[in-house]
Amino acid sequence: MYPRMMNENIFAVGAFDWDRTLFDALIPLPYGTTYNAYLIKGSKKTVLIDTVDPSKLAVLKRNLNNLNIDRLDYIISNHAEQDHSGSIPEILNLYPMARLLTGKKGQDMLLPLLDISPERIQVVEDREILSLGDKTLQFIFAPWVHWPETMFTFAVEDKILFSCDLFGAHLASSELFASKNENTLQEAKRYYAEIMMPYGGRIVKHLETLQNYDIKTIAPSHGPVYDHPEQIMSAYHEWVTGDLKNEVVIIYVTMHGSTEQLVFRLTDELVKRNISVTPFNTVTASLGDLALSLVDAKTVILGSPAYLMGAHPNLIYAAYLINTLKPRTQNVGIIGSFGWGNKMVNQLTDMLKDLTVEYLPPLLVKGNPRQQDYLDLVALAEKIQQVHQS
Ligand code: FEO
Repeated sequence: MYPRMMNENIFAVGAFDWDRTLFDALIPLPYGTTYNAYLIKGSKKTVLIDTVDPSKLAVLKRNLNNLNIDRLDYIISNHAEQDHSGSIPEILNLYPMARLLTGKKGQDMLLPLLDISPERIQVVEDREILSLGDKTLQFIFAPWVHWPETMFTFAVEDKILFSCDLFGAHLASSELFASKNENTLQEAKRYYAEIMMPYGGRIVKHLETLQNYDIKTIAPSHGPVYDHPEQIMSAYHEWVTGDLKNEVVIIYVTMHGSTEQLVFRLTDELVKRNISVTPFNTVTASLGDLALSLVDAKTVILGSPAYLMGAHPNLIYAAYLINTLKPRTQNVGIIGSFGWGNKMVNQLTDMLKDLTVEYLPPLLVKGNPRQQDYLDLVALAEKIQQVHQS
């Protein structure tokens, strides 16, 4: 990535990671990602906002060199996670006069993670102002999007919000601005589902806080920069507080085909009733697609064969993830087949203990589904239709 000018004396100096395929050893990255860092040259002080993943340190150094930055006064750490902070020690070494600005919680998290001398850190407070001469920055604490220490930095005169992970997207694109990337919102939604969804309540409060700021541009720490910030702000509002949709997500696995027969028949019955439905076979499904589908769905169905005495391990994994991602889903159903022992209903409901949901009547079939079982599936589809309309 070559440094790109966003506004007068404000540059994007981060790095592309075009071919990274996995984040957190968990999340698939179909479009790679970026680690965004921003340089602001005020008339008196020069600031770097965040750094890059250590694997891309050379890119950041080259960008600073290309801009002839021979002095940095401050490095701002909006977020201590290493994809943004990991190059801070090297940049501090490169610019021995630079102070590292972060909140108290940021300091407490950065010191154990990185080799940084505490004397280099200057702790800032919520809403503190920093003058760069002709430019002014304000720090806005924004805990739990998605770590407790996170803060935003607002460039007052330029009206740019550096929002860290919030509003981000794992999307490597040669176009800097979201208006030139038609799939930005979809990838931002995927990112929201994978990273931010558990913190919906916090995000509502942060969105309210941001209403008090005149924001012309949002510059997150992953993906394109929003030159029309109202689009992503309103999309976030919808994802966090909007009405859930007439959608069912079925997450299943099958060993000998019985559970799959149940899933496919239920899918047909839902389609007949004009209910959108997406079945995800856990053997082949992308975790990102699955998470994305959970943002709007009113109902989730888990389909599992009995594996020995309980649910199949793939469904245990899926239930754990759903419980962690905390979608706003209102209804959960469990379907499946078994041969002898069967503890899957208790096992799966226990794993979803952090969700506030109504459980639909479970439908467990001994062996292959028969005529009566299919009639029970019709009843389940009717029940789903009923709760979606209520
Ligand atoms: Fe992109 Fe939470 O780091």
